[in-house]
Amino acid sequence: MRTEQPKTIYLKDYQQPDYWIDETHLTFELFEDHALVHSRLALRLNADKPQKTLPPLVLDGQQLQLLSAALDDQPLAEGDYRVDAHSLSLQPTSAQFELAMTTRIEPQNNTALEGLYKSGGMFCTQCEAEGFRKITYYLDRPDVMSRFTTTVVADKGDYPVLLSNGNPIASGEHEGGRHWATWEDPFPKPAYLFALVAGDLVLIQDSFATMNGREIDLRIYVEPENREQCGHAMDSLKRSMRWDEEVYGREYDLDIFMIVAVNDFNMGAMENKGLNIFNSSCVLAHPDTATDLAFQRVEAVVAHEYFHNWSGNRVTCRDWFQLSLKEGFTVFRDAEFSADMNSRTVKRIEDVTFLRANQFAEDAGPMAHPVRPDSFIEISNFYTLTVYEKGAEVVRMLHTLCGAEGFRKGTDLYFERHDGQAVTCDDFVKALEDANGLDFSQFKRWYSQAGTPRLEVHSHWDAATGQFSLLCKQSCPPTPGQSEKLPFVIPLRMALLDSEGQEMPLKLVGESAARGNETVLALTEAEQVFTFEGLAEEPLPSLLRGFSAPVKLNYPYSRDDRVFLAKHDPDGFNRWEACQALAVDVMQGLVDIHRAGRPLLADQRLIEVYRTLLADNALDPAMVAEMLRLPSEAYLVELAEVADVEAIHLVRETLRRELALALRSEMLARWRQLNVAEPYSAEATAMARRSLKNTLLGYLMIEAGDDMLAACVRQFVEANNMTDRQAALVALVNSPFEEAKQAALAQFAERWQGYPLVMDQWFSVQAICGLSGALERVEALMQHPAFNLRNPNKVRALIGAFANQNLIGFHRADGAGYRFLAERIIELNALNPQIASRLTTPLTRWRKFDSARQGLMRAELERIMALEGLSPDVYEVVSKSLA
Ligand code: TRP
Ligand code: ZN
Repeated sequence: MRTEQPKTIYLKDYQQPDYWIDETHLTFELFEDHALVHSRLALRLNADKPQKTLPPLVLDGQQLQLLSAALDDQPLAEGDYRVDAHSLSLQPTSAQFELAMTTRIEPQNNTALEGLYKSGGMFCTQCEAEGFRKITYYLDRPDVMSRFTTTVVADKGDYPVLLSNGNPIASGEHEGGRHWATWEDPFPKPAYLFALVAGDLVLIQDSFATMNGREIDLRIYVEPENREQCGHAMDSLKRSMRWDEEVYGREYDLDIFMIVAVNDFNMGAMENKGLNIFNSSCVLAHPDTATDLAFQRVEAVVAHEYFHNWSGNRVTCRDWFQLSLKEGFTVFRDAEFSADMNSRTVKRIEDVTFLRANQFAEDAGPMAHPVRPDSFIEISNFYTLTVYEKGAEVVRMLHTLCGAEGFRKGTDLYFERHDGQAVTCDDFVKALEDANGLDFSQFKRWYSQAGTPRLEVHSHWDAATGQFSLLCKQSCPPTPGQSEKLPFVIPLRMALLDSEGQEMPLKLVGESAARGNETVLALTEAEQVFTFEGLAEEPLPSLLRGFSAPVKLNYPYSRDDRVFLAKHDPDGFNRWEACQALAVDVMQGLVDIHRAGRPLLADQRLIEVYRTLLADNALDPAMVAEMLRLPSEAYLVELAEVADVEAIHLVRETLRRELALALRSEMLARWRQLNVAEPYSAEATAMARRSLKNTLLGYLMIEAGDDMLAACVRQFVEANNMTDRQAALVALVNSPFEEAKQAALAQFAERWQGYPLVMDQWFSVQAICGLSGALERVEALMQHPAFNLRNPNKVRALIGAFANQNLIGFHRADGAGYRFLAERIIELNALNPQIASRLTTPLTRWRKFDSARQGLMRAELERIMALEGLSPDVYEVVSKSLA
């Protein structure tokens, strides 16, 4: 058991800093066994804070060796300051002074990948959220913004490239083969946006002309072997820069913008000013090695980090409770960018699918927290789906309520009013209010109340008067620390459909003007009735179009209603939604049938909907693919009160088989039509065709004959792109054809052993496979030479994929899956606490399962809890899960 209880930090305790740091001058001397960090800080008393005497200066610092310190050039003796495990404090004697320090750190031993560390042969940094304090003593908080000048000194042969934020202003050579470069960032920034890179990298260069005709030097730095894989990231960057000008009026502000790809990285990427550092998985993309999904991810992450330059860097967060100010807004911005670049409806379907399977589960679990949390122990634990994805949904609702034009007025005001400041979510909402003359005080409950609201809608049809009423009831389940919730503002986008599937004109009783064929009802009360009049026949409502609010909607649709909507709703998103809901309904029914010991038969209506879809050549093939995809096991677990793991897995697999067998000839026909040899194209239309083709391949490989097996092997061998090759591999790995499967796996590993990102796919495909023996396979793969527990991508690809996406394998009844995960968490706790903590998520969901599994999962959590040297990261998640 740990001796020192980690401390909880509260939003309500926020206070301005006692001092500001106007200037930060850093010199890094990089060596193989240590680094020296020389800092010179220009400090000034915060005059806005009424203080009688000069308060002590308390700088954050962790795992640092202080070699020297001087105040206004006077060396400090040991009694002049105090150092403990988290800080350095001293008593200033004037309101303005300069502090110089030298610290010694060991980047080569930094396995937590936070602060300054080595990834392969290069030095790099990750400072968000609180990594800068592992580099030097500092006021490591986002409301302290400083102008940085950085000099990097290193061996020229091993580290020819030396980078930091801003513009290069000087460079030169030292004796002994060392060289240096100085960078100056003219924009004041918090320390979390600081970055440094030193390595042997090649440069891919391009340029961008801004809306005001400035030429920006665009640079992507990668290890030499990845030179050919940067084109897509560069194109995505230029498209992002143009889009931010066109949609938000935001121009880039430095003359140079750099991206560096590193292999060891805890997250996707980081928006450091002028020097974004990326997980190589979010930069590199070539058709031979990356799937269409990976291409889309690169585009989205490049855009996300670029957009942060305004939403995050120029206007930043006052404190870490405001994280969603930059993350929710920026996720919304990148989602809209991707929607504009690709299919808007498909993008929305993907995001909603992800949100409902994952964020809803977080909202229903022990780590549930508001979009703006009230407290945390370790801020790294709050880079969550709630802050990012639900935060983006909250911004999307604001966009819906303001309208596109009003929203733009609001963001213009926000950027203008707060440029160069560190602000709060309230400031963001205030700008939208002021620009539009709206009152969002009730709406702001979305920031403070956790949990997923439920929306129960019932209807009443009065044939005599032609009136149709919607009775809407909202509620929100209790979450940790919040037993009672007040009503939310819920924008409900909706339409009414006649028996032909046509939208009917909407006129609300009591309103003088009609609302057209689609409207947004703003729900504000716990219970509310909306009555439409002048209707010639009883309508079928199409509700929550485009998922206009992150709620769980319930309307008593019959299966026939859903069939109708799946075929006729003019709104593409709700068409998909009807198809999903029908499949969910069918599967939930089958789970009950299975538990009653009766035979499982697919509802003919679902088969007929699929049959219609397969014949629909006018519909975007990517949409068809989305609609043919059955809801995931994870989503079914989320929807269940107590999830029956075996039944869910069995039912879903059985239904897939039933569909495959019932629609064999239709699927084969459509697949043949799509399975034509064609040159590779990265166009959205080509991706859409591959998506449908490979979805069909998955179905056709169920109880496949020799011909189909041969076709699948042929696709695996002959594919001219990784999307097709990987889809064939997935189909083979999940098939009973042992020989073909082993041959494909061996061939794949042989061919791609030199490509870490491709090997990640190889690990994942096997980790996710639901056939028996999954845990043993994963354990064996941990011994594979390409696996490495210190590389987060590998951990995610193998262990994370198994625990999060292999329901039946992970939740083995004997608890061996839980034990395996706990052991890995314990190992990672010592190496990389952030990754260890994230890996704990599946165990925190123990309340969802039967009592035997609950007991087994809790036992593992308790075992972790008892660990000597438990990190605050893992401690917070485990202790809250057991509470
Ligand atoms: N700001 C980054 C983003 O969302 C998040 C991030 C990157 C991060 N690396 C991190 C957060 C490490 C915590 C720790 O774009
Ligand atoms: Zn971000």
